[in-house]
Amino acid sequence: MSNRQPPIESLEVEDRVFPPPEQFAARAVATSDLVAAAAADPEGYWAAEASRLEWIEPWQQVLDRSGAPFFKWFTGGRLNASANCLDRHLAERGDRVAFYWEGEPGDAQEITYRDLYERVCRLANGLRELGVGKGDRVAIYLGMVPELPVAMLACARIGAPHTVVFGGFSPNALSERIQDCSCTAVITADEGWRNGKTIPLKANVDAALESCPSVEAAVVVRRTGGEVTWAEGRDHWYHELVERQAPACPPEPMDSEDLLYILYTSGTTGKPKGIVHTTGGYMAGVASTHRQVFDLRDDDVYWCAADCGWVTGHSYIVYGPLANGCTGVLYEGAPGFPGPDRWWRIIERHRVSILYTAPTAIRTFMKWGTDAPAGCDLTSLRLLGSVGEPINPEAWMWYHQHIGGGRCPIVDTWWQTETGTIMISPLPGITSTKPGSATFPLPGVGADIVDEAGTSVGLGQGGYLVLTEPWPAMLRTLYGDDERYLETYWSRFPGLYLAGDGARRDEEGYFWLLGRIDDVMNVSGHRLSTIEIESALVDHPAVAEAAVVGRADAITGQAIAAFVTLVGGVVGDEDLIGELRGHVAKRIGPIARPQSIVLTADLPKTRSGKIMRRLLRDISDDRQLGDVTTLANAEVVREIADMATAARAAGQEE
Ligand code: WTA
Repeated sequence: MSNRQPPIESLEVEDRVFPPPEQFAARAVATSDLVAAAAADPEGYWAAEASRLEWIEPWQQVLDRSGAPFFKWFTGGRLNASANCLDRHLAERGDRVAFYWEGEPGDAQEITYRDLYERVCRLANGLRELGVGKGDRVAIYLGMVPELPVAMLACARIGAPHTVVFGGFSPNALSERIQDCSCTAVITADEGWRNGKTIPLKANVDAALESCPSVEAAVVVRRTGGEVTWAEGRDHWYHELVERQAPACPPEPMDSEDLLYILYTSGTTGKPKGIVHTTGGYMAGVASTHRQVFDLRDDDVYWCAADCGWVTGHSYIVYGPLANGCTGVLYEGAPGFPGPDRWWRIIERHRVSILYTAPTAIRTFMKWGTDAPAGCDLTSLRLLGSVGEPINPEAWMWYHQHIGGGRCPIVDTWWQTETGTIMISPLPGITSTKPGSATFPLPGVGADIVDEAGTSVGLGQGGYLVLTEPWPAMLRTLYGDDERYLETYWSRFPGLYLAGDGARRDEEGYFWLLGRIDDVMNVSGHRLSTIEIESALVDHPAVAEAAVVGRADAITGQAIAAFVTLVGGVVGDEDLIGELRGHVAKRIGPIARPQSIVLTADLPKTRSGKIMRRLLRDISDDRQLGDVTTLANAEVVREIADMATAARAAGQEE
């Protein structure tokens, strides 16, 4: 019986459509011919994309399915990721800027491809001097300084897989990751800058290394000049190490399936998962999707405002853009430092043409108001991107209007640390977009939505998002844990990769992401997606951000509990709460009317900016709070918990 009920019901209707502007259609990198060719022969398509890279030895087989789901791509081929990002650009575009870097305090660097090449070679030689060799794992724990991409590429150059740990993580999180893959070296800095304050990176490393016997060397960038303690023999200043090295270093020829990096991502429970990415397929995938989704042209200035500590930074700050020889922007600090116009000044200064960021950033800017972007010249922008969470239609419209000036297409890109590359996204020259929809799978990608039984659902229905075909940049396993890889992604529906996200397809086949499966609520037998109710709340002019969870309810199974932050200047009261509840009922239906709404100054978020609904569920159910140490803004949780208790007591039930 339960098989007949759609796994997730979808009640929201979004009918705004934005066809590609003419100038995109006329000059698009990705055309409908290409889409057709990829559909006819996906492997041939990926082979053609991979042949844009420089291979030391050609591959023998495009895709080896024999060990499924341990797939292999471009087997027998040899290449080096750093050589693909650097060496092959030197002759033609050595003097071209690879990165415009801005430090938070206002210092800046212009780094050409030749500069970057030399810096990478020097550090690669330095790492070798410290005994790091092919196959050794290196942890990188830095802020967004130029040395971060340099360190990643230096590791790639000598065949030492890196694991970048976001600079905001605690010593505990750092040591857990270092231990899991037994790193032999760590690259860090004295301190990092964030919001005008310093982050004690080296002190955190010192604390972490107390429980990491595998680490023999620590390389320390001098960033702030702050004081550090020193372990003689183990610690080395970065500048002293690279100074004595030659600015050239032959790249290590790597097998297509050799490890490029491990990146840890939190699982629903327990220890983080070490996502394993290898070299050939990953590089082919990131270069190809970066070119097509961002419609890359030679004169673009591209800014992906993520941190290299996340997969977005790996794929779309470092490996994809540099493989394409593109000019990028790197910014070290917080978006609001020293004022709310920092980002828009950066765009103005460097004439940025493509901006790629996350819904959480967009909603923060919405909260700050339109004065800051309106006061800057953003006319250089021609394309906007979004990643990391479903983007609420209202945030989409704000981004489109106030940042994109109404003229820039938006690519809402769905993907995961596991997928390595964007999987579902508009192609800006050919796809008509709808605010809030990631639209369609990219060329060469197979995606579907299935019900509990694994059967594809029809148009207009919701279910589980799955990937139906292997793709080049896919994770190969979880580091040291093949079992967990099989169990997490491949056991629910045999032969299908389970993404863990809910999704629906509308009548025209557009994909709409509905959030993590765990976030689905069951209200009076209806399975509702949190994101749709959140979007209905954000649609109200007073609301900046919203999080919705299901609270245990004796009558309806679950009741909808909402947490809302208001846009700057709006004062919240009981009347507004009543209005918001009515607004949701009107947009979606009475079934979706929140039972309680808590107004709060902030929402609990992970360090990568995703709303932590799990914590809000605990608060709503009055359970013991789970672990909050990985939260970006842990202090808000207490405050929200108190308010939720008050809201329940006040009894906002009908
Ligand atoms: C969510 C980030 C809706 C989703 C690249 C996914 C999205 C998880 C989108 C992966 C999007 C990412 N629309 N949801 N455009 N992009 N997500 O590993 O739940 O940090 O499974 O990778 O973020 O997050 P991760």
